Amino acid sequence: MSHAEDNESTRRDFLYYATAGAGVVTVGAAVWPLVNQMNPSADVQALSTLFIDVGGLEPGMQLTVNFLGKPVFIRRRTAEEIELGRAVAVDELNIDRDSRNPNKPGTDASDANRTMDDEGEWLVMTGVCTHLGCVPLGDGAGDFDGWFCPCHGSHYDTAGRIRRGPAPENLHIPVAEFIDDTTIQLG
Ligand code: FES
Repeated sequence: MSHAEDNESTRRDFLYYATAGAGVVTVGAAVWPLVNQMNPSADVQALSTLFIDVGGLEPGMQLTVNFLGKPVFIRRRTAEEIELGRAVAVDELNIDRDSRNPNKPGTDASDANRTMDDEGEWLVMTGVCTHLGCVPLGDGAGDFDGWFCPCHGSHYDTAGRIRRGPAPENLHIPVAEFIDDTTIQLG
């Protein structure tokens, strides 16, 4: 593999950032956030809404977008990650049993209540550690194969639930929904 190809695949596998209202950034050729409001209130609308085409994400891939000044992780989980998450009973969660999901308010932190779809492939979370606000590392990091915040050692599982360390809450989930098969609306 050439150096250029190597760089390309590295970039494709890792994160990219796009800011609502500030143009479009892409990774590879497939992932395009869209801000498609064209009326006079577009600027105001665009600040609080972001449309993201996730059609290019394969299982095991994650992208990060900047939404309202915070990173949001969008991960398409692998079958193994789903299995790991679903194998955990709520009473095994000894730090936080709240789903922290405004899309399913008042629910417990079962794996199914953390994900967007019934199959559990799509996990969307604000990438801010609930301890003191660092951005956790992902892609299977930490003792629970999810995310790890190295600042003070918080381990999150494959559903972004805090399992060990000083963070008091699961990674928060933003208001989000699929508006078609491949587009997620944040906000
Ligand atoms: S900010 Fe994440 S563990 Fe302290």
